[in-house]
Amino acid sequence: MCGIVGYVGHEKAVDVLIGGLQRLEYRGYDSAGIAVLNQGGMHLARSVGKVRQLADLVYRDWDAQFIAAARVGIAHTRWATHGPPIERNAHPQVDGAGRIAMVHNGIIENYKALQQRLQAGGHVFKSDTDSEVLAHLIGEYYTDGNDLLRAVCAALGQVEGTYGIAVLACDQPDRLVVARRGSPIVLGLGHDETIVASDASAIVAHTDQVIYLNDDDVAVVGADGVEMRNIHNVPVSREVSRIDWDAKAAEKDGFDHFMLKEIFEQPEALRNTIRGRLDQRQATAIISGLALSPREMADIQRVVLMGCGTSLHAAMVGEYFFEDLADLPADVEQAAEFRYRNPIIQSRDLAIAISQSGETADTLAAVREAKHKGALVAGVCNVVGSTIARETGLGVYLHAGPEIGVASTKAFTSQLLVLFMMALKFGRCRRLSREVGLGLCDEIEKIPELVRKVIDHNDLIAEVAAAYSQAEDFFYIGRGYLYPAALEGALKLKEISYIHAEGYHAAELKHGPIALLQENVPVMALLCDVPGKEKTVGNVEECKARRAPVVAIVTEGDEAAAEYADHAIPVPRTSKYLAPLVSVVAMQIFAYHVARLRGCEIDQPRNLAKSVTVE
Ligand code: M6R
Repeated sequence: MCGIVGYVGHEKAVDVLIGGLQRLEYRGYDSAGIAVLNQGGMHLARSVGKVRQLADLVYRDWDAQFIAAARVGIAHTRWATHGPPIERNAHPQVDGAGRIAMVHNGIIENYKALQQRLQAGGHVFKSDTDSEVLAHLIGEYYTDGNDLLRAVCAALGQVEGTYGIAVLACDQPDRLVVARRGSPIVLGLGHDETIVASDASAIVAHTDQVIYLNDDDVAVVGADGVEMRNIHNVPVSREVSRIDWDAKAAEKDGFDHFMLKEIFEQPEALRNTIRGRLDQRQATAIISGLALSPREMADIQRVVLMGCGTSLHAAMVGEYFFEDLADLPADVEQAAEFRYRNPIIQSRDLAIAISQSGETADTLAAVREAKHKGALVAGVCNVVGSTIARETGLGVYLHAGPEIGVASTKAFTSQLLVLFMMALKFGRCRRLSREVGLGLCDEIEKIPELVRKVIDHNDLIAEVAAAYSQAEDFFYIGRGYLYPAALEGALKLKEISYIHAEGYHAAELKHGPIALLQENVPVMALLCDVPGKEKTVGNVEECKARRAPVVAIVTEGDEAAAEYADHAIPVPRTSKYLAPLVSVVAMQIFAYHVARLRGCEIDQPRNLAKSVTVE
């Protein structure tokens, strides 16, 4: 949800900033902008559309000597919240005097009140954004012309809401001031250069040494390092962390789309998720990030799984894992709703926040509420150093590598695997026998290979996809472990192909949605050979009786199940626990090919952003 880059150093700032924006484009892509400084003053450009359009404009219109000389700047790629995606609403936003430029990710909740106050003092606003108000406010405090840090702190003291900002002042060409509350900011510490970004993917090409800002941190950023303060301008110290992946991991590597690359990467990602986490001797999983003794684990009385979107679907599968394997009551919470209800949390509850990015605002708010209510809170995140990972302190990283495609793929399968291992671990501290535990360890080890077998059917799935690429509506049905899988399959199809797709419990179809079935409304039925299949077969019959075409995900060799469908996609035989994992991989591939045939923007679907950092 908006990407920010800032640079102070010895390289050409324009090149670094445009390159950084391209790496962050998955965070938002409706408009983009850049402001850089050199002795000749500030150059600013903004454009609607992708970063490529901004780059064309800058390299075409700006003086080459200016570009070559500028060493300081900020840039932004936007996902609109306040005001439509038009040039005047793109960032950087500037103050009234044109001395301050600022890029912002987040929402200034009290911007109306601040705006009225500033307007009464003569300020004139040119955009529809909340961000412009903050730029003016900083400008208002920048009176003596030489203390940008003080001006930023004073302005932020007036602000309610969330922000990650990077600010530059025309007369301070050697520094930026950055700050965060609720929206991530990472500082990359290079040799005679510092890069500011919303996440590490824009930094990793320059350095692996980073500082993650905490909420209410403010930093003065120079080429030779950073000065850390809090919003009250009091010095704070923050540790330097190391990024443990390289720039190549965030490149397409010959694939047409990040999504396809990330689907194909799943066997490797899952291997990385498993690595070092199986203890065959004790027939259990090693979840060192949980840092709970077996006794403390045995003492947990309930698990609450929270997430949004794909992570919510992983939470729903997790509920089954914890109930079946750990004998623990488990509840799923749609994270956005959690703090607006009055959820009952008890002291021996473990809340597990699931989030690929670790930055989703709704999930973060749920984490804070659960902590406030006294729950032990753990994170299951992919992005190392992300806010949820840091605020929970307790938890498990996916180690799936950077996920750039807006549609989540490898993060989902790694989330299922982590939840499976967590449930195994809890189960072994409770009633799960060593024998059953050993069997589950064996299953876990085979997961990467099972997923590879699904990927091997890519061509076949592409053929099936071709038969359905013109559909305008689609239903996905499953039951048991395959119910959340149906929801995830439908989400994948709708977000990248724009086909209206609904996931339902197979039994629920007849309670209303079946009214919509007809010969041009296909149904994806999850018919893996696991408990519940026979009942879903009955529901498939009901669909066929309404002349709906049926595509089925079936267990390899289960010809009888395949017979019920117009098209069948085989997946390897698994236990019920892993059936959602292999089925979802098949549905990811199906959605990918449908979207490709429809000519959709697969990695950056309309209206979406990878990381949703506003409520
Ligand atoms: O980073 P998170 O896992 O917290 O993100 C949650 C959702 O925004 C995300 O899963 C979204 O639904 C994806 N676009 C799904 O593909």
